[in-house]
Amino acid sequence: MEGATNSENRLSTAEVARMAGVHKDTLLRWLRSGLIREPGRDRHGWRYFTRAEAEAVASFAKSSSEAPSSPPIPATAVEERAAPYLGKLTAIDWDFAGAKTSYLTHGIHPYPAKFIPQIPNALIQELSGVGDTVGDIFCGSGTTLVEALTLKRHAVGIDANPLACLISRAKTSGCSESDRDVLLALAQRARTMGDSLLPSTSEGNLFPSPKLVSQHWRPSFEKLTFWFDQHVIEELAEALSWCREVESDVARDLALTAFSSIVVAVSRQDSDTRYVRREKNIPPGDTLRRFARSLEQIIQAATEFSDVVEPRFRCQIMQANLLDAPPIPTLDLVVCSPPYPNAYSYHLYHMTRMIWLGMDQPRFKKEEIGSHRKYSSNGKNGATAETFKAEFSSILLWLSRKLRQGGYACFVVGDSTLKGQRINNADLIAQAGEPAGFREVMRINRTMQATKKAFNPAIGKIKTENILILENRGKRA
Ligand SMILES: C[S@@+](CC[C@H](N)C(=O)[O-])C[C@H]1O[C@@H](n2cnc3c(N)ncnc32)[C@H](O)[C@@H]1O
Repeated sequence: MEGATNSENRLSTAEVARMAGVHKDTLLRWLRSGLIREPGRDRHGWRYFTRAEAEAVASFAKSSSEAPSSPPIPATAVEERAAPYLGKLTAIDWDFAGAKTSYLTHGIHPYPAKFIPQIPNALIQELSGVGDTVGDIFCGSGTTLVEALTLKRHAVGIDANPLACLISRAKTSGCSESDRDVLLALAQRARTMGDSLLPSTSEGNLFPSPKLVSQHWRPSFEKLTFWFDQHVIEELAEALSWCREVESDVARDLALTAFSSIVVAVSRQDSDTRYVRREKNIPPGDTLRRFARSLEQIIQAATEFSDVVEPRFRCQIMQANLLDAPPIPTLDLVVCSPPYPNAYSYHLYHMTRMIWLGMDQPRFKKEEIGSHRKYSSNGKNGATAETFKAEFSSILLWLSRKLRQGGYACFVVGDSTLKGQRINNADLIAQAGEPAGFREVMRINRTMQATKKAFNPAIGKIKTENILILENRGKRA
């Protein structure tokens, strides 16, 4: 329940939605898209509205020209429903300029090149019905999965990156009261120890801050002290051991995600989007305090997620290489943003995180499609546009058997620059899908937000991307 209120002047989200005559989900959607101002939150993180704020919402609802939300799409044959629903997509402003993108669990962990939630949200609403199964075959940090669940669909996510699977699980599991208590105690423990390690600033204090020497595991990685200060390593080792001790699977995933979210910030890696070494002079105690803050943010986000998503909508997340044609349930709709040639190298940018979490980083490095490392090689094994097309031919052949006939597969993809030449990846994917029975039914060009960062400067200059929609027509005889 969102926001049990404890005073007459404080109204919960459900009460304000009733007052405004709209469904609570509609009100939450307005908040997420910035159409109405966020109210305050109580000490548990629940929203509460003042009378004046509630009245402002009611008057917005009255004046809103927004049509009542569309009824669930009936589970009829897609051929019958395809055209009208596709047509609706052309009325959407796909740039979503200024839309909020970190609501619910979306902002709990950085994931370069994730797409904005408004894109899968709109595609799922228009191209599937309540109770359908929506898949993201390159789920990354789970954006599509979160949106599918909030829209009352089941979700299936696949990714070869074990870190992506951890984050996706954390974003979609919610948080029970007992998990919340365990995690709050963990945050308190981290804060207390972090505070005790802070360098003392009080004048005349002759006692230096205690030095932490953790007895716990840390990776036997030869470059560990190149990337991390020694005191940071001790604090990370301590925090990681606490996460590993958490008994509940869900709470452990949330704790490990909080841990992972701070690793790059406390390392000497410049940022999540720049793999160069830079001194940051992280003070003693700071790593544990950041871990505590990240945990608190995750607890709040996961609790809010639990409030919005009904447990009857299930989410399955699989770590698998798509080129191995993994077994998955039948999907009604696919919404994904695939890796594309020369864009990013998740195995590199996520390396320190994966090493701390004991994940098989070398394996993912081999499996990763599109990585800058493979495409920048000039040797005879260097990847080309043909490599990408061949990989997609195999993936789409597999997908044609997993997506129901008449179902849509949506790919949000930009262009690449390969050895100075611009490559239209949407064209390559559309062509790769033809022999498997996929037919292009729509292509939407959208402008990306200026703040969206790219690792590869050549890609950074490309400001638009395509939403390519293929229909699974079944293999031709
Ligand atoms: C652009 S990201 C997807 C981001 C996602 N839409 C989100 O919002 O977080 C592409 C993903 O493809 C995954 N990937 C790359 N090669 C793969 C492979 N062979 N099999 C499965 N997933 C792969 C990467 O790990 C990465 O998470």
